[in-house]
Amino acid sequence: MVIGEAIGSTDVAIIGGGPGGYTAAIKCAQEGKKVTVVDRESVGGICLHHGCIPTKALIHAADMVQESKKAAEYGVSFSGISVDFKKTQEWKRNIIKKLDNGVRGLFKHYGITLLKAEAFFEESNKLSLHPLDENEHLEINALEFKKCIIATGSRERMIPGIEVDGESILTSTHAIELETLPESVLVIGGGYIGIELSQMMAKLGVKVTIVEALPRILNLLDEEFSSIVQKNVEAFGGTVFASAKVEKVEKKDGKVSTTFNKDGKSQTVVTDKVIVAIGRVPNAEQLHLDTTKVQLDEHGFIKIDKKMQTTDPRIFAIGDVAGGAMLAHKAAFEAKIAAEVIAGKSSAFDNLVPFAIFSDPEIAGVGLNETQAKEQGLSYKVKKFNSSTSGKSQIMGDKGSFFKVIYEENGTIHGLHICGARASDMIGEAVLAMEMGATIEDLSLIIHPHPTLVEGYGELADLALGKPTNSL
Ligand code: NAI
Repeated sequence: MVIGEAIGSTDVAIIGGGPGGYTAAIKCAQEGKKVTVVDRESVGGICLHHGCIPTKALIHAADMVQESKKAAEYGVSFSGISVDFKKTQEWKRNIIKKLDNGVRGLFKHYGITLLKAEAFFEESNKLSLHPLDENEHLEINALEFKKCIIATGSRERMIPGIEVDGESILTSTHAIELETLPESVLVIGGGYIGIELSQMMAKLGVKVTIVEALPRILNLLDEEFSSIVQKNVEAFGGTVFASAKVEKVEKKDGKVSTTFNKDGKSQTVVTDKVIVAIGRVPNAEQLHLDTTKVQLDEHGFIKIDKKMQTTDPRIFAIGDVAGGAMLAHKAAFEAKIAAEVIAGKSSAFDNLVPFAIFSDPEIAGVGLNETQAKEQGLSYKVKKFNSSTSGKSQIMGDKGSFFKVIYEENGTIHGLHICGARASDMIGEAVLAMEMGATIEDLSLIIHPHPTLVEGYGELADLALGKPTNSL
């Protein structure tokens, strides 16, 4: 023991209070465990403070502006639409505060201890705790545990040689805190974050340029999903440079000059701000895992099994730090598994992980896409339903929306993907269907309420069965 060390003890220590960590804390407490969560910021993690919630709030505000403009089509005109972005930010921060307070209230209800500190492993059953500010005093500076769940998440990947200053060269975290919108922005990376931020800003009048290294934006999706989003980026005055490699980002006279190579030619675009959104890396290396038996994979993610157990029997890992899809809902589900395993139950992760991209149009999916089905050599069939023909889509002005199913001759569904308004909400039915082993015929046998967007599932299934009602 180090002299002057004040040691606390707990059944379950959880490092990180994001959607993974706080869910794990609540689930462990429900299993009767004494739980201590250590987080250097607050509860809610990146998702609540710098990711999902703030971006979706800003996207909602931007959509409101567009919806108000579009309403003129059906005779509803607004005059003097203006955006007070400071107020938008204030509103966004209020939502975050309420949700943060909500989680803290739940912690209180369940008797969960929350410590604001930086945690490192000292050994397989002990954490060392450090204040973030040297002048701060911690009541305990070490925490012994029976089990530990690492839920430290991920952070933005940086581009070597490009210095993010938080002023004109930004990460997504900086970008969503801007108090005033720039006139122009160049976004490096056309993935989930790059696209969501770009479209939000473009709708609020920012001139957006996207530079993507791969041949197309949202490269993980089937081509038709990427191309509809790209068309919409362009419809709002944005420009996409795909297969483009950034060479240099320089600050010049209050602007930023980005040089990239496309088709062997160097091009330079000058903007007010640059946002770097080229993926995220796990927060694992700073945990002093060498003092435990926890192992990392070749990409720096913590190795876990289906029970969320690491290679150290006392230690579990969940969420972004443990690899797989970097999605809050996956982390939260893994948290449930870890808590149940710690409570002695025979739980294991064996779930489909849906995704939802809050692009315009929204895209959501579950299971395999066509590219993956092809790569796996499956004898699959594809059917698409152009749902923009449906009554509700037309009322909502949802152009170009569609449902796509990847399935087998016998009706087994491999994947369901939706493009269009509310895709993020609608994907729930597809997840339930696939988790319950529903076939195409089962989807066709469900009555969907009318007029709704979810009717698309029924029509899609009927199309696949060769007997569509509202389409050919
Ligand atoms: P991403 O991995 O989705 O996309 C990064 C993109 O940057 C890729 O298309 C990649 O080809 C490109 N890129 C990489 N290096 C580049 C370079 N030097 N120059 C130009 N392009 C380059 O990562 P992103 O968008 O940063 O998101 C990180 C994670 O956050 C994702 O894995 C996602 O799971 C999660 N996320 C989820 C959201 C949701 O569920 N709606 C929203 C936002 C993020």
